[in-house]
Amino acid sequence: MAEFHSKIKTIEWVDNYSKMVDQTLLPYEFKYVNITGGQQMYDAIKTMIVRGAPAIGVAGAHGVALYAQELAKENLSRADFVTQLLEKADYMATSRPTAVNLMWAVDRQKEIIMNSTADIDGIIKELIANCTKLENDDIAINKKIGDYGAEVVPKGATILTHCNAGGLATVGYGTALGVVRSAFAKDNTIQVFADETRPRQQGARITTFELTMDGIPTTLITDGMCSYFMKKGMIDMVVVGADRIAANGDAANKIGTYTVAIAAKYHNIPFYVAAPLSTIDTSIKTGDEIVIEERSHDEVTHINGKIICAPEVNVINPGFDVTPHELIAGIITEKGILRPDYNKSIAEAFGSVLLKN
Ligand code: MRU
Repeated sequence: MAEFHSKIKTIEWVDNYSKMVDQTLLPYEFKYVNITGGQQMYDAIKTMIVRGAPAIGVAGAHGVALYAQELAKENLSRADFVTQLLEKADYMATSRPTAVNLMWAVDRQKEIIMNSTADIDGIIKELIANCTKLENDDIAINKKIGDYGAEVVPKGATILTHCNAGGLATVGYGTALGVVRSAFAKDNTIQVFADETRPRQQGARITTFELTMDGIPTTLITDGMCSYFMKKGMIDMVVVGADRIAANGDAANKIGTYTVAIAAKYHNIPFYVAAPLSTIDTSIKTGDEIVIEERSHDEVTHINGKIICAPEVNVINPGFDVTPHELIAGIITEKGILRPDYNKSIAEAFGSVLLKN
């Protein structure tokens, strides 16, 4: 087995810059890009060179460290450095609106900036050390998610997934695909059906790429096919990632996920969400409060730069949808599998952290 996941890090702090896989080039080219400035990181997140909720969280943290390095060259007083860096951090957090991991990781950096007693160089060192910590924590958390999730994968199961919640959506190993990886390590008769995931085709371009690299049997289907295969009895469970989960368990994920969840419910197939606790936003009661990113119409009207429709047609392109909690059999986290009633199980998982919000 190629063990792709253990060999690469999607994003990593190196010396004084951030090194990441350019995911816009997949599957044609596997190439790293070095991000050396704060604005460059903002653009990398916005244009989806780096994507996937946990990965953009780490990218946001790197972005704050990059801005700190830039501001340090401006001969500012320590107080002005702190004020301006906090403004840059807030700006970094706006690079994409839906995945709460971005705001969560930027907040971790802001805590360092606000609480540090060090001089400017010392603050930068602390921010960089935290980048590495967030990277290592992410992989460790994903392995825990994978191991908890593997316990509910039936022997020889066919697992349907949507979008890419894999090693490339995180620093490594993946959330939904972490469950697949841990399950496959125990039982190599499992297989994956991957939704193509229009419009940006993360399922086709990224999920099939990383799973086949690891030798995990994978079948690509288009988004509209899932209920066809469910009716035929060919899907045993669904596992997807999430970009933001409300306190009641409603979960935002890539557009099309809600349709899969409804189809799974109709066919009595368990639908699981795999996500770290940093994806849970306990400050919002329900999924209605989640901001859904509106993306460029070109993503719908064009494929590989070629127009596929009447040029004058109206287009709407929401990047995410919200799956209501009643369709979710369990939320697989690093603290175990949370079950309904989610208001209760999420509050319990957060323990004292919940009280802060
Ligand atoms: O627009 P993207 O590619 O960033 O969307 C990614 C997803 O929706 C993933 O499923 C989600 O971020 C979970 S990643 C572990």
